[in-house]
This record gives sequence, C-alpha cells and structure tokens, in this order.
Amino acid sequence: MAPTTEHDQSARPSTLLITGGAGYIGSHTCVALQAAGYRLVVLDNFCNSQPETLDRVERISGQRLTAVHGDVRDRALLDRVLSEQAIAGVIHFAGLKAVGESSEKPLDYYENNVAGSVTLLQAMQAAGVKTLVFSSSATVYGMPQFLPYTEAHPLAPVNPYGRTKLMVEDMLRDLQQADAAWRIAILRYFNPVGAHPSGLIGEDPQGIPNNLMPFIAQVAGGRRAFLNIWGNDYDTPDGTGVRDYIHVDDLAAGHVAALQHLQRGAGSVTLNLGSGVGHSVLEVAQAFEAACGRPIARQFAPRRAGDLPAFWADSSLAQQVLGWRAASSLTQMCEDTWRFQRGLQTAS
Ligand code: NAD
Ligand code: UFG
Repeated sequence: MAPTTEHDQSARPSTLLITGGAGYIGSHTCVALQAAGYRLVVLDNFCNSQPETLDRVERISGQRLTAVHGDVRDRALLDRVLSEQAIAGVIHFAGLKAVGESSEKPLDYYENNVAGSVTLLQAMQAAGVKTLVFSSSATVYGMPQFLPYTEAHPLAPVNPYGRTKLMVEDMLRDLQQADAAWRIAILRYFNPVGAHPSGLIGEDPQGIPNNLMPFIAQVAGGRRAFLNIWGNDYDTPDGTGVRDYIHVDDLAAGHVAALQHLQRGAGSVTLNLGSGVGHSVLEVAQAFEAACGRPIARQFAPRRAGDLPAFWADSSLAQQVLGWRAASSLTQMCEDTWRFQRGLQTAS
C-alpha cells in the first residue's frame, strides 16, 4: 500500500465544527469524537459553560482542539471559521435549554435557538458544508398519545423551548426537501445525566439546578438541604414522575454513530436517543443513595407546572439504523454523577 502523504485528503481525519462544544453534552461528545479520530473546532460563547472545560476535554483525550470564542449568530465569524478550516460537518449543540426560563424570556429562546440556527445554516450553505447533526429533544412530542414515544409520535411541544426545537426541525426538513445534498441527523435526546468516568467533566449548572440529577447530587454533597419531589400523585407505579435517563457518554457515542452514518452517505435521519427504560424520581433518589452511600433527604411537594407524568423512548430505530444503543445502567449514571460532584466540591 502506498504511504499516505500530506496531500492524501482521503487519509486525513475530517475536521468538524462543534457549536456549544464546551457545554455539558458537547464536551462529552468532543471526547468521543476525538477518540474516533476527528479533529475539532469548537465554537462557544460560554454563556452557560467555562473555557476550562475544553482544557479538560484535551486532558482526557490527550489531543488538542481549536477553541473559538464566539456566537453562532455571528455570520461573519462563521464564514471565517468555515472558510479557514476544512470543515466536513457540523454538530450544533449551541442553544438555550431551560424550559421554565423559555416561558419567561421567549424572545431570547427564539433568537438564540431559531435565529442562531438560521445563521449557522446559511453560513454552512454558503460554504458548501451540508452535513449536520442537530440537538433536538423529546420535548418536541408533548403530551404522550402513546408510550414509548416513537419518532412517528405527533409533534406538539407545550413550551417555547420545545417550540424552538420543533421550528428548527421543520426548517431542516424543508432544507433537505429543497436540496438533497444536505445530510442531516436530528437527534431527539431524552434525559441526559451522568458524567465522564474521569470525573473531569460533567454537568455543573449555575444557581439552583432545575433538573433532577444535578439537584440530587447537590443534596448528596451537602450544598442543598433536601430534594423536593414534584408530585407523588401521578398515575405511575409509585406516584412520582417517570423519565428515560440516558448516560451522557452513551449520548456522545450516539453522535459519533450518527455522524459516521451521514458521512457514509446513508441518508438523513431523525432518531430518539434514550435508554428505552423509564425510572421514577424515587427510583433515581434510591439509586443515588446506593451510589454515594449517603441518605438523600427528600419531601413530597406539589406537581411542577408543565411537567408531564411519564415518558420514555422507543430507541429501536437508532439501534436499527446506527447499530447504537444506550448501555449504561442507572447505577452507573449515579456513580459517575457523584464522582464529578465530589470533584467539584474538592475544587471549591
Ligand atoms: P449546555 O448549556 O451545557 O450547552 C450549550 C452550550 O452552548 C454552552 O456551552 C453555551 O455556552 C453554548 N451556547 C449557547 N448559546 C450559544 C450561542 N448563541 N453561540 C455559541 N454558543 C452558545 O446544554 P447541554 O445540556 O449540553 O445541551 C446541548 C444541546 O442539547 C442544547 O441545544 C439543548 O437544547 C439540547 N438538549 C439538551 C437536553 C438536556 O437535558 N441537557 C435535552 C434535550 C436537548
Ligand atoms: N424533579 C423533581 N424534583 C426536582 C427536579 C425534578 O421531582 O428538583 C422531577 C420532575 O418533576 C420530573 C423528573 O424529576 O418528574 C425529571 O425532571 P427534570 O427537570 O430533570 O427533566 P424534565 O424531564 O422535566 O426535562 C428534561 C430537560 C428538558 C428536556 C426533557 C426531555 O430539562 O430540556 O428533559 O429531554 F426537554
């Protein structure tokens, strides 16, 4: 076999643009992509993350990445990045994600999530970069008409955040219709939790956590006195809300598989990424107690406005199309979250 040279394009690892790559899911996906041989350019405005996270990604992977401090709404910057680097595809994580806040500040969400995506897609189109993986959410389904949700479930989100995700999905479907050269993977995440087993990266929300797992982790670490369980009168086995928790490293692996699928030319896809199993709030609290060896003080409180009683994924299409499935147990998710939480507390 002829030796590969600097000029042998086919032998070069492809370079990807990762928007929002310093965030929770993005950082774990960067580690997985580097392990799979990709070179990365990360664009992040750090509105919900720290530049230091990218140093940690490099420490874990032992590989460098290019960090660009900037905003996906900055067209000139995108044009520059897309022309200076030989970008083969984009994974678009950047966006705002707090459901409650999206009802209070809807314009911020439409501006960042929808207008930001329009700007990114225009820049990609102009640069001829037409391979995209997009972070969507199970929240696009809305009130379950059947469970588990399949990708064919009607789409009827019940909050502004969910509507921004559906709008971008619709835009991507229209774009694909207009120009078949686009290769697009829309990934609908269920409830990502856990952290990298190194304990170096994980989810560290600013202020009071909205989401269950980071809240429980802070109770375990003594930063919060007790967990409020929002509702114990749902029509679920123990009365508390049921969700499909998926380890963030399984989710990261799903992105690598989706990207490889697109790069093989195997066609655009819309896929649920979940574990396929529902766990109640009480089950999560008990699993966390077992993982950290401490009691999780808790009390029942009224239902949280806007919460659905229960939902989980049918992820069989992702398994069929990508050969991917979530492998981690709830125990592993709790153990890895706890390791990261302890690291945070030692550092502070
Ligand atoms: P995150 O907030 O940790 O990461 C988002 C990153 O994007 C952050 O680093 C933030 O600084 C950056 N960012 C935000 N707006 C930007 C902009 N305009 N320009 C450049 N960078 C910007 O969130 P996450 O949990 O990692 O979520 C990643 C994506 O997945 C989001 O689009 C989110 O909506 C989606 N998603 C998340 C969940 C979840 O539960 N975590 C579930 C479903 C979908
Ligand atoms: N919960 C509590 N106490 C808390 C926090 C949560 O009891 O302090 C309960 C909720 O009522 C719910 C379950 O824990 O039953 C999970 O709640 P999360 O806030 O962790 O997650 P959600 O399912 O409400 O929403 C998350 C993301 C959304 C995303 C959705 C589906 O926040 O952005 O998963 O992917 F759309």
